[in-house]
Amino acid sequence: MRQHVNPLSKDFSEIDPIPPLNEVFENPKLPLHLDVGCASGEFLCELSLKNKNWNYLGIEIRKKLVLNANLKMNSKENKNLYFSFGNANNLFDHSKNKSIIDFITSISFNFPDPWFKKKHHKRRVIQPKLINCLSNSMKTGSLIFIKTDVRELFDHMELTISESINFKKLGNDNLIFCDSFNPNRIQTNREKYVISNQLEIYESIYQKI
Ligand SMILES: C[S@@+](CC[C@H](N)C(=O)[O-])C[C@H]1O[C@@H](n2cnc3c(N)ncnc32)[C@H](O)[C@@H]1O
Repeated sequence: MRQHVNPLSKDFSEIDPIPPLNEVFENPKLPLHLDVGCASGEFLCELSLKNKNWNYLGIEIRKKLVLNANLKMNSKENKNLYFSFGNANNLFDHSKNKSIIDFITSISFNFPDPWFKKKHHKRRVIQPKLINCLSNSMKTGSLIFIKTDVRELFDHMELTISESINFKKLGNDNLIFCDSFNPNRIQTNREKYVISNQLEIYESIYQKI
């Protein structure tokens, strides 16, 4: 399977509409967490089984991973989990998806692809257009979690988010983790790898004000 796909390629300009939330979740009124770049979904599967009082939505640009994620989900019958194929940068371009922002309580960007070369920085998932869209539409108090082991990417993500006056950075002490989407601090696959290799993790939380 291809490790990286170019999100700017025209193959990824279209995005599947996410069905109305009452068609995908047993209880659409639960707080909704969106995980961007959810890969094959292990993290969200585990989260959704442990926290039945949240709904989880994963978006992933590699279609095969989404197919695998859906197979896993169906075998466990998670009723608070949905995986969607597509490019997160275009997610809210689809008129049907725009309304979903209103329901989002938090979003995570866990270990996004770093795209090290300067000429490829525009392929990084956190871009001004996406942050502007979130900043204009997310409800007050909703949260963005970013996490990476690449310092330079972290600085780039922080700069992009902090350019929006609608987000303020939270100190870790300001967040009650047991109320968050991940109260048990479950680790993503990349996070497990990074920890086992004793690499540093850089993370921040932003709140829509
Ligand atoms: C390094 S992996 C991290 C996977 C997982 N979040 C983790 O922490 O283990 C980054 C994932 O983001 C996906 N991705 C990259 N750009 C994306 C985009 N624009 N929209 C959605 N997914 C994207 C990649 O295909 C890949 O599965």
